[in-house]
Amino acid sequence: MKLTTTLLILLTLLSTALALPQTPASDATTSPPPWLPLNRTTPHFNLVTSVRNISPTNFGFTNLYLHAYHSGAGLNDAVFLADRTRAARGFLNGTYAVFNLGSQFYYGMRTGYVPYGSWGPVYINARTGDRGFVISDGRFVRVDGNFGGWMVCDWWRNVPQLFMKFRFGAERAVIPGSCAEVDLIVEYLAESSE
Ligand SMILES: *[C@@H]1O[C@H](CO)[C@@H](O)[C@H](O)[C@H]1NC(C)=O
Ligand SMILES: *[C@@H]1O[C@H](CO)[C@@H](O)[C@H](O)[C@H]1NC(C)=O
Repeated sequence: MKLTTTLLILLTLLSTALALPQTPASDATTSPPPWLPLNRTTPHFNLVTSVRNISPTNFGFTNLYLHAYHSGAGLNDAVFLADRTRAARGFLNGTYAVFNLGSQFYYGMRTGYVPYGSWGPVYINARTGDRGFVISDGRFVRVDGNFGGWMVCDWWRNVPQLFMKFRFGAERAVIPGSCAEVDLIVEYLAESSE
């Protein structure tokens, strides 16, 4: 082996070793303030889909776990995967839905408003999210006036993605064929895994 090649390999190994203990760029650039007011009012949980009106075309959307799909510094889309072990762990802080994504920051669920739309996307972003989330009859729902149910669609992430239907608008809308209306079942985690 030529000396220059050996040197290059050594340098590559060295820089890889030095680069390993870095903090993820996402957290370094966002740097939200410490979360002083946090009062966990439920055990930790995962959210699991249960398709309403299950059929041969939509049964693939059932029994999927909520995950955060990284979309930018401190930003995530709410998506669903079969993998349970790395699913987003959440809890309620009053009526804020807070998620622990394994970093030092808390993430809050927010829904995107689409003027005159029938539904909007759901995000899990760093900092406090929207208020109004509650657990009712074992299901995760929102109590604000415009909540019309949850919908999961094969969308821009190419995996099932969460949308919130708007109460005013969605009742007249035809659900696209790549979507299914779902309930989000709350699956509490054993205290030992918290
Ligand atoms: C935390 O939430 C519980 C239940 O809602 C409430 O009774 C308590 O006063 C809250 N504590 C703080 C510090 O906000
Ligand atoms: C927790 O709830 C309080 C209001 O009771 C709010 O001020 C705070 O921002 C919330 N924290 C998170 C991380 O959502």
